[in-house]
Amino acid sequence: MESPFKADVVKGKVALVTGGGSGIGYEISLQLGKHGASVAIMGRRKHVVDSAVAALHSYSIPAIGFDGDVRKEEDAARVVESTFKHFGKLDILVNAAAGNFLVPAEDLSPNGFRTVVDIDTIGTFRMCREALKYLKKGGPGRDPSTGGLIINITALLHYGATWYQIHASAAKAAVDSITRSLALEWGTDHDIRVNGIAPGAIDDTAGVIKLAPEEILSQIKQKPLYKFGEKWDIAMAALYLASDAGKFVNGTIMVVDGGQWLSRPRYVSNDAVKQLSRREEIKSRVKPAGVPKSKL
Ligand code: COA
Repeated sequence: MESPFKADVVKGKVALVTGGGSGIGYEISLQLGKHGASVAIMGRRKHVVDSAVAALHSYSIPAIGFDGDVRKEEDAARVVESTFKHFGKLDILVNAAAGNFLVPAEDLSPNGFRTVVDIDTIGTFRMCREALKYLKKGGPGRDPSTGGLIINITALLHYGATWYQIHASAAKAAVDSITRSLALEWGTDHDIRVNGIAPGAIDDTAGVIKLAPEEILSQIKQKPLYKFGEKWDIAMAALYLASDAGKFVNGTIMVVDGGQWLSRPRYVSNDAVKQLSRREEIKSRVKPAGVPKSKL
């Protein structure tokens, strides 16, 4: 799909995207690159990172890849440092790396819980912490008048509750809390904007393939409100935040899900609800003799 943004909205910026080798992270890398940014991507699987970088190069996007695990302190430090060394600065950190799997809470070990929290929550904080010295106003290589941007890819699992993802739900709730705390502290002290994007069900991503297999999807798809988003939708939200259009947006979580989180299954049709309401209203407005009748 064509981008509605001008091709130079993030011209000259340098972005580091964790989990940038595939899925939503790759699409964000691609769209930032297509709109003028240089991009470093970080991922655990070298061959995935390598082929993503080759794909970005095919669009003439200045890109570099680093294999690394956000769970490892030394990887986080090395990748942030190497990104700075390669491109001379860092403007945007996108935390898109995540882990999840379906499991009933009673079958989940503490280590399984910890593994996901370590990737999603602590991994996000770890990367933010390493990037701080480059993102802060006056940081090395930066335009001295502005700080940088952090975008944390979160989820909707904890809006209400989600079956069989207690670990990821808790992890992403904590990510949102981190987003707000850093927006407050680093926004105030360092002019760094920190925002989240909460994607709904996005077609052709691990989130849907792993967590909503066909047997579950076939039931959900019968509901009229249900439709997939595209990775592009999330990348456009990231581009908005990264461009000057988002310069006053800090500490927000942008929900990009077509409004699905608001919905509950519709048990009663529109017509049935009108009849039901009319009947109940008439009942409740039965007045003693002499009182004018309701128009109902
Ligand atoms: N059900 C129950 N427990 C599970 C599990 C599952 N499907 N998958 C992993 N675990 C548990 C393991 O049993 C282990 O706990 P234990 O030591 O008590 O047995 C713990 O989680 C760590 O598992 P391990 O396979 O060693 O972790 P890993 O580091 O190799 O993989 C994951 C990390 C588990 C998050 C893996 O799913 C992954 O790499 N995901 C990346 C991609 C992804 O999930 N993306 C989705 C984004 S929405």
